Amino acid sequence: MNIGVVFNKCFYWILGFVLMLFSCNNNNSSDKINIGFAQAMTNDDWRRSMNDAMQLQTSLIPEVNLVIYDANYEVERQINQIERFIADSLDIIIVSPILSKPITPIVQKALDANIPVLVVDRKTENETYTAYLGADNKEVGNKAANRIIASMTTDTIRVVEITGLEGSSPAEERSYGFKKVLDGHKNIKIIKTIRGNWESESIEENFKNFLKNGVGVDYVFAHNDRMARGAWQVARDLGLENTIQIIGVDGLNTPSGGIRMVKDGVLDATILYPTGGEEAIKLAVEIVKNKSVVKNNILTTTVIDKFNANIMQDQYDKIQEQRAQIANQIKAIGQQEEKYYAQNNLLLVTMGLLAIILSLALYSIYSMFTIRKKNRQLELTANKVIVQRSQIEKIAQEVKESNEAKFNLFTGLSHEFKTPITLILSSIESILDTAKNKGFGIMNEVELIYNNSNRLLRLVNQLLDFRKLDDRKFTLRASKTNIYTFTKAIHKDFASEAKKRNIKFKVECNDENLDVYIDRNLMDKVYFNLLSNAFKFTPDNGEITISIYNTIEKNMVNIRFSDTGIGIPKDEIDNVFQPFFKGSNNKKKSSGIGLHISKELVELHKGHIEVRSVQGSIFNISLLKGRDHFNDNEVIIEDDMVDNLGLDFGPDYFDNQTHLLEDVDTNKERYSILIIEDNTDLSMFLKSKLQIEYKIYLSNGTDSTERAFEVIPDVIICDLDLPYKNGFEVCSILKSDWRTSHIPTIILTALGNKESFVEGMKSGADLFLTKPFSYSVLMQSIQSLLYNREKLRYYYTNSIYKLDHSGCSNNMEQEFLDKLNYTIKNNLENADFNVEQLAVDLGISRMQLYRKVKAILDLNISDYINNFRLENSKQLLEKTNLTVAEIAYKSGFSSPNYFSTVFKKKYGDSPNSIR
Ligand code: FRU
Repeated sequence: MNIGVVFNKCFYWILGFVLMLFSCNNNNSSDKINIGFAQAMTNDDWRRSMNDAMQLQTSLIPEVNLVIYDANYEVERQINQIERFIADSLDIIIVSPILSKPITPIVQKALDANIPVLVVDRKTENETYTAYLGADNKEVGNKAANRIIASMTTDTIRVVEITGLEGSSPAEERSYGFKKVLDGHKNIKIIKTIRGNWESESIEENFKNFLKNGVGVDYVFAHNDRMARGAWQVARDLGLENTIQIIGVDGLNTPSGGIRMVKDGVLDATILYPTGGEEAIKLAVEIVKNKSVVKNNILTTTVIDKFNANIMQDQYDKIQEQRAQIANQIKAIGQQEEKYYAQNNLLLVTMGLLAIILSLALYSIYSMFTIRKKNRQLELTANKVIVQRSQIEKIAQEVKESNEAKFNLFTGLSHEFKTPITLILSSIESILDTAKNKGFGIMNEVELIYNNSNRLLRLVNQLLDFRKLDDRKFTLRASKTNIYTFTKAIHKDFASEAKKRNIKFKVECNDENLDVYIDRNLMDKVYFNLLSNAFKFTPDNGEITISIYNTIEKNMVNIRFSDTGIGIPKDEIDNVFQPFFKGSNNKKKSSGIGLHISKELVELHKGHIEVRSVQGSIFNISLLKGRDHFNDNEVIIEDDMVDNLGLDFGPDYFDNQTHLLEDVDTNKERYSILIIEDNTDLSMFLKSKLQIEYKIYLSNGTDSTERAFEVIPDVIICDLDLPYKNGFEVCSILKSDWRTSHIPTIILTALGNKESFVEGMKSGADLFLTKPFSYSVLMQSIQSLLYNREKLRYYYTNSIYKLDHSGCSNNMEQEFLDKLNYTIKNNLENADFNVEQLAVDLGISRMQLYRKVKAILDLNISDYINNFRLENSKQLLEKTNLTVAEIAYKSGFSSPNYFSTVFKKKYGDSPNSIR
């Protein structure tokens, strides 16, 4: 059995035991002798003394329980009270009947219920009781009569008898006994019988009236002392108290009792009528205990007169004193008992608590061991869990790594796909160019290849975007954009399909000048997704509308894409933006990530996209106007939208045969471009395209920097992902070298993330093109870089002679020019100082010097030195008094004549005329 259960059982056992002990100390009424006493009344001292005696005796017998009911002279009430005792199944009933007759049946009932009945003082009829206890009332009557006889002094004695309540046995018997004795005495006459009810008031009136008649009375026998006193009072009132002798009954030792009255001369005598209270309890106990008892138990009576009144009083006083002592002792014992029980109970409670504490202590010890055991088990389980968790973590890590590897492979492959797709797209552009040049029409297949390559590219991009969103790698680069122009540009891309399928495709706008900050690249993806969807699900002859609303009051712009397509089922509409969602009515192939990406990209703009579908679908994009909702690093400055940089296979393109090639001026001096690219296809493609306009040098990446130093090109196009040095490394080497620092560099990359962009910028790259790039964009980029270089060159050229060597140049070009100028300046007077000497001083080759100076100043280096000399001489002519010849030598010209010739050639005037 489980030890915990055992402990629990022990605990309850102890508790039960303690309760049992308690219960032993409680007086259990069922083990006692229950006595019920139906008292007739308690308004007189005799009855009170009877009750006191019973209670005193009861207190001496611990097993007796006494209940006293008082009927207060009401017979009906007494019957009911006895009835109640019967119902309570008491062990015995003691009855002192008010009247004999009416009480007899209820006593019989008790007897029938096997409840013994002890009748006291007054009797029931026909000896209906188990036992009777009381004095012999006939004897009482005899004794009263004998007293009168004994006191005879006159011939005739006139007696008045005052009886008790008619129908009560003492009254009947006392009268009977009295008369019986007096019957033999002719000269003792009962001249009047007054019927009383045991109380004095019941006889006073009658007795008074009788005395007032003048009849002489010698003796009065009253059936009790109370009526005897009443008679005496009447006699006294009439001044007859000394002529009338009065005998009473009861003989109580109380202040107004019979003994007192005898002593005071009020009564001649009183017949002692004992209450028998004490004896009644003793007898009742014996009856209950089934001891054999006498049926009629007669108490002794005696006559108390002036001769024995004192003795009787003394004896009664002593008895009362003893009773009082006994009562006190009983009370003290009771208190002791209570104390004992209280202490005993306290002890038991303490013991009980001790037992509980002990068992709890034992239980705690047991629990401690159990807990320790369980802890050990838990530790073991925890260790197991840790091991399992680490295994799971390991597996999860492996799964993660494997997933990562797969993702990387997938991402890598997607990147890889981009280069061939770019090539395909660029090749088509090339085919198109060639066709245009030769005036050929374009085959439908070419359009097909172009469109599908674009589609393929978009899908690859979508996959990469999904990964990027997953990695939270998108960085917003919002620029101020005319949203109408932006929308129209994309509209153009879908115009051809709309025309072919007779779809009414239009752009509506309530404000064509509305500018919004958007990341054009990202918003382009959103537009493409929404429009691709619309075109996918709109049947031929349907309608697709892009509506742009400038909502001025809300500072918002709403862009709505509505179509008349199949729509989205109502119960699926909440899920359309979930990744991999596919509508149940969508039977076409779809990745299910386009709308998800669109939502993420719109939210990246702090915008909101929602969808409704009633007939067809409506996608609504809400964007905030202004730029306050973006961080500073999320906003860039971009040129205004150039309308359609890419190839336009618009609706009329293939019908139009007038695209003619502009003549290439092969004689003009061409800029040179170094292409550093390890993908031969791409570098060959770029070469084939660019060589029309530029002089092309190639490097496969193995000799990138060497080639750059060697050729000093005007522009460098460098792939990022190169086998030896990557694009960033190549760029930073070239940008930190005087020889090449001025060369605009374009980095080509498949990575479109912010980090790459920042790294590219750090390395000094001038432009960063993400694959796949449009050839046109590349061309434009090259041109704008060369244009910028031109602007810089203009600046340098115009401020060249103002340039001062300050030693705190802030870029490589400035530094180079400072050094150049400083070297030339230092050698101004040296007529032998030439280009070779300058190149040696600068630590670069003559050729490199030549190209560098040409690139940044668009000047021949010899001309530059000459210009320097001439500018110096001009200043000397203007500011000094030196002779022309002196100035010629000071400016490094070997002869004054030669100086004059070149001076005039440059400034139009001879040195002399300036002077
Ligand atoms: C008390 C009493 C006594 C008398 C007895 C008779 O109530 O009246 O005075 O002796 O009853 O039953």
